[in-house]
Amino acid sequence: MAHLTPLLAFRWSPRSFDPTAELAPAEASALLEAARWAPSAGNAQPWRFALGRRDDETWKRILVNLPGRDQRWAARASALVLGAHLTAGPGSTGHAPYDLGQAVAHLTVQATALGLHVRQLHDLHAAGLTADLDLPVGVRPHVVVAVGQVGDPLSLPADLLASETGLRRRRPLAELLLA
Ligand SMILES: Cc1cc2nc3c(=O)[nH]c(=O)nc-3n(C[C@H](O)[C@H](O)[C@H](O)COP(=O)(O)O)c2cc1C
Repeated sequence: MAHLTPLLAFRWSPRSFDPTAELAPAEASALLEAARWAPSAGNAQPWRFALGRRDDETWKRILVNLPGRDQRWAARASALVLGAHLTAGPGSTGHAPYDLGQAVAHLTVQATALGLHVRQLHDLHAAGLTADLDLPVGVRPHVVVAVGQVGDPLSLPADLLASETGLRRRRPLAELLLA
């Protein structure tokens, strides 16, 4: 297997965030800067973010719009970042969800460089987020990015512990190649 750069090799998506760890303002800025400098189709930069730190109002409004089963672990994260994209106007190119995903990938690499971990969630209550965060028309919530430090997996509920400690799997490269 080819050797990956450590920033990619060490990345994984935990649920066992340390519920006492806080995200420093400089770390939050670095994560958002990493996303801001991602490439996008036509340089449209159609991504938008709302970042809440544990127990602040934005964090609570994001958390409450996640399914109960995910709140169990997301509530441990130091920060919850809503990733949204434009659906109308000059920044809307048809590639907006792709561009948002790339921006979040950059955020994730920056998080790894800071010794932080990320787990993304696509299962969110979009209408609730739009209302609770007072999002402008033409901005669609797409993903929530939980960020924090890894804590003790044994403190997770039993079903989450099993997933947390299971093997991470990927399809073989040969299966991904079309020609
Ligand atoms: C767009 C996206 C949505 C995801 N949604 C969820 C989710 O709703 N709940 C969850 O527990 N994990 C979610 N994940 C995490 C994936 O399950 C995880 O990245 C995948 O199993 C691979 O594991 P790894 O990141 O540790 O390599 C999501 C990841 C991505 C990129």
